[in-house]
Formats: sequence, structure tokens, C-alpha cells
Amino acid sequence: MTDRYAVFGNPIAHSKSPAIHADFARQTAQDLVYEALLAPLDGFADAVRAFAAGGRGANVTVPFKEEAYRLASRLTPRAELAGAVNTLLFATGEIVGDNTDGAGLVRDLCANLGCALAGQRILLLGAGGAARGALGPLLDAHPAALVVANRTPDKARELAARFSAHFAAHGPVRGCAYPELAGQTFDLVINATSASLGGELPPLPAGVFAPDSLAYDMMYGKGDTPFMAFARAQGAARVADGLGMLVEQAAEAFFVWRGVRPDGAPLLARLRAAA
Ligand code: ATR
Repeated sequence: MTDRYAVFGNPIAHSKSPAIHADFARQTAQDLVYEALLAPLDGFADAVRAFAAGGRGANVTVPFKEEAYRLASRLTPRAELAGAVNTLLFATGEIVGDNTDGAGLVRDLCANLGCALAGQRILLLGAGGAARGALGPLLDAHPAALVVANRTPDKARELAARFSAHFAAHGPVRGCAYPELAGQTFDLVINATSASLGGELPPLPAGVFAPDSLAYDMMYGKGDTPFMAFARAQGAARVADGLGMLVEQAAEAFFVWRGVRPDGAPLLARLRAAA
């Protein structure tokens, strides 16, 4: 029987996830259908429970990732650490919550962009849900240093303290305000703020991009985000948007559900060619 999956969000009409999972299902010869479902802002839990009666799993996107975290009857360790859920797995009588966003980011950085994270100095911008999801997988790669900068610096310091305690052996994590970055350089700068959504730029001081650095924006769209344009102007060697992260978080979710890992690279190349 064909297994059913879906992505829940609001809005959801322009989601690329159905096309991505249809491609993965073809590639791996899995018998499944995947649809985009609009959940009412006050009706997410009911929508998921209704779908879980016949479905096998679901993805969750804006603005429901924290609600999905609370809805899950069991959490994977990486979802627990992230404080947010983007992947649900319906097992008998259980809703398991997972988070594949950070793994997708790291896979895009390492496999698609050829960025070795071990020993690198990484700067993560933002201290919201997107940053939280990225921290564990980034630390797992053993960077030389990881600095979290945020407009509200106390949130960055709190987040850094929590992850320092959990990943004590994985290298130092520090939280700070943007002006404190002056005079420091980084090999990898990741924009995990939602600033690009409003056409804004996090208030980065000049000079944070090391000569060989990669600037990565988790957002994607037509053309450069303000952060990408700033990074180019500041001399970052390479600039990337978050389309690869979208594809790779989906590949990881597909693996969680089906036990087979699709190759994200060919699809990513096609999506980039079509953009
Ligand atoms: P998400 O789930 O996408 O991470 P979020 O949890 O609302 O969304 O977090 C948004 C992040 O973007 C926060 O770190 C926020 O900074 P504050 O904690 O100071 O609010 C950051 N952010 C949003 N707009 C920004 C802007 N214009 N400049 C800098 N940071 C911004």
C-alpha cells in the first residue's frame, strides 16, 4: 500500500517539499505520496492527529516547529537539544519528534560545498530556533571555536552556556553581542537570523570574513539575500544560500522514515538550474 506523508505549515502553498520528496521516492523506488497541508494557526495539533490516523510521518515548518516539539510523545536527542521538531514519525500509538535541520545544514556544508568543519572558526548569527537546531550538529564536527552572536546578546550567551555544558569535549562555544565581533575573523559565517525575511542585515561589524571564508545564509530565494551581498562586498571567498539545507534536511527526514538515504546533490543541481 502507498504510504502517506505530508508537510504542515502556514502558509504552505509554495513549499518545495512535495516535489523534493517525490524526487527522492522515484530515486529510491519507494512507494509513497507526500502532500503539502495547510494547518490553521490554532489547529496544528488536531490537523496532525487526524493525518496520523492514516499517515506514516510528516514534516513541520513555520510557524509550528515549537508546537510540534510539545506535541510529540517522544523526542529524539537531537530534537530535544534543538527545542524544535521538523520531522514527525507516527509509530503505533506514538508521535515521535525529530529534528533534521542541523544535520541537513552540516551535510550541505560538508558534502555539497566541500567545507571541512573540523578545526574551523565558525560564527553563527542568531539565537532563535534555527540557530538552536544548528548548534549540536555543528559542534559534533569539532570546530576550533564556535561563536554565537545575537541582537539580544543574553539569548546568545544562554544558548552558548547550555551547549558548552552539553558538548564540553567538542570545543569552546561563546555567546556575544554583534559589536564584540570587531577585530575577529571566521572561516565560516552562518546567518541563522530571520533578518533576510524582512530584507534586513544583522548588524555585523566589518572585517569578520577570513580571506578563505564561506558565508552561508539559511534563507534562500531569488538572488542574493542582504547578508550574502554584504559578505561578497566584505571579501568572503564563497557565498551560499540555504537551498541545499532545504534539500538535505528533507533527505535526512526521508532516511528517518524509510531507512534509505537519497542523494540530494542531483536534485539540488536541478533546482539551482531552474531558479
Ligand atoms: P527562527 O525560528 O527562524 O530562528 P526566531 O526563533 O524568531 O526564528 O529567531 C529569530 C532570530 O533572528 C533571533 O535571533 C533574532 O534576534 P533577537 O533574538 O534579538 O530577536 C534574529 N533577528 C531577527 N531579525 C533580525 C535583524 N533585523 N537583525 C538581527 N537579528 C535579527
